[in-house]
Amino acid sequence: MDAAHRPRHPAPMTEAPLSAGSDFQAARLTVRLPAIVANYRTYRRMAGPTAVAAVVKADGYGLGAARVAPALAQAGCDSFFVARLEEAVALRKSVPQARIFVLDGAAPDAVPALISHRLTPVLNSLAQIAAWSAAAGVGTSKLDAVLHVDTGMNRLGLPGDELAILSGEHARRLAGINPVLVMSHLACSDEPANSLNAEQLSRFKQALAMLPPAPASLAASHGAMLGMEYHFDLVRPGVALYGANPQAQEGTGKGAPNLMQTAAVLTARVLQVRRIDSGSSVGYAATFRAKRPSMIATVALGYADGVPRALSNKGFAALGGHRVPVAGRVSMDLITLDVSDLPEAPHIGDEVELLGDTMTLGEVAAMAGTNEYEILTRLRRVPRVYEGQ
Ligand SMILES: Cc1ncc(COP(=O)(O)O)c(C=O)c1O
Repeated sequence: MDAAHRPRHPAPMTEAPLSAGSDFQAARLTVRLPAIVANYRTYRRMAGPTAVAAVVKADGYGLGAARVAPALAQAGCDSFFVARLEEAVALRKSVPQARIFVLDGAAPDAVPALISHRLTPVLNSLAQIAAWSAAAGVGTSKLDAVLHVDTGMNRLGLPGDELAILSGEHARRLAGINPVLVMSHLACSDEPANSLNAEQLSRFKQALAMLPPAPASLAASHGAMLGMEYHFDLVRPGVALYGANPQAQEGTGKGAPNLMQTAAVLTARVLQVRRIDSGSSVGYAATFRAKRPSMIATVALGYADGVPRALSNKGFAALGGHRVPVAGRVSMDLITLDVSDLPEAPHIGDEVELLGDTMTLGEVAAMAGTNEYEILTRLRRVPRVYEGQ
């Protein structure tokens, strides 16, 4: 057996099925909870007197809301945002005391579950307001809710005409509702020079003046970096808590130095190493053809693990701190790397970093032609290992 094929970390001699907790993991997602907490604290420091909620939708942006939210709650975070009712119901078990906001709002058939799990809907339309007000009429005390006004996303939230109606009739339409927050969402907050930011800020202030007084929230991760005037009473970062640079345009990997700590590290083992001749091809459709005698390492991660297929012949990985290019197509369970230029040939079992301190989230997103959010939320098959708690 030559050096390149000698197992450095042999698999355990066991017939037992490998589980996420077993010693051998072909691939793993290491979630650094202390980094997420540190990123949350950075927002707290930046926001000053403004409260900071955490957005943990899509299972904590792929990192595991059931572990992320309690870690943040322990650090003093008392408010969490999710998108779906099901996410909120699951999260209630992890943070029994916290306020949980549901961005999808209050569809009539969601109302009983919202109430029984003590969830706070983000009301996006007059219809949702009516459903929540009707539910409140059944009980004796008022029901908390967020009023979401659309200031330029044209996605969710009260459009201008509905806001005008609500403004004129808020005593009746908000009967039984206790508005704990009025919020809106910025469309271009990762582009500080985009004029839509100031326009949305101005529309948001106008909306606040049209509604009964309540705490206000406009900014998420990037918006909070636009200046104090965007902070209002609550900022609600998501992606920055998980390590994305809130001072870079999403999906570019460029911008000011990242103040956030790396929270997600995706690694996998080398399964096989082989020499190929000049002219040989690698992988499906033979899209990589060696221009010289080459060394190819096959690694236990593929698009089913969330590695974008767009990284085929384009992406990089890191081996012992050295960057090596992806050779050929990313396949379902495997990627192949051209390791010919490494000072030493890799060994079976060596760990390769696809995402982490060397292969940063911003760079990987840019190489894949997507954004940091999609990179993180795709990481579903890989067993997660939690550092720090
Ligand atoms: C309404 C709302 N608020 C806050 C966030 C968090 O945004 P970010 O992850 O950019 O901080 C999102 C995410 O999409 C959102 O939809």
